[in-house]
Amino acid sequence: MAEDLHIITGSKSAQYEALFPQIKALLAGESDLTANLANIAAALKEQFLWWWVGFYLVKGEELVLGPFQGPVACTRIRKGRGVCGSSWAEGKTLIVPDVEKFPGHIACSSLSRSEIVVPLFRDGIVWGVLDVDSEHPDHYDEIDREWLEKIVALLG
Ligand code: SME
Repeated sequence: MAEDLHIITGSKSAQYEALFPQIKALLAGESDLTANLANIAAALKEQFLWWWVGFYLVKGEELVLGPFQGPVACTRIRKGRGVCGSSWAEGKTLIVPDVEKFPGHIACSSLSRSEIVVPLFRDGIVWGVLDVDSEHPDHYDEIDREWLEKIVALLG
């Protein structure tokens, strides 16, 4: 497909509904993981203008920074640490309405106020996480969980 994103306005669900097939098309026919992670991060950032969107990938006992959009970020997070390391350890999506109330939150950016982290699974094993941050409090909800889980499932 042409590498142009069709940005739409409207409800959050409507935005995800329009974005999802476009992300699917971007991934179709491309097997390179870095390219696909980079395009997912870029597409989410372009549509939603979130503060930070990116991936951390499991390497040994740590998550290591992968493709992202936004300000420079922490490069390594240990299993069980912060929101990302907790999502990995627990194997589930974590929605954090107020990062200051999450014990052990890792403040890569002092402007981040809320966050959602979605684990990436292959054969039941977490191999990375998608981390999305907002400068607004309480910015993510079950709609984001549902759609972001669907989006990362495209990675197979
Ligand atoms: N806040 C995350 C760290 C990653 S940055 O937000 C990009 C955490 O607590 O795991």
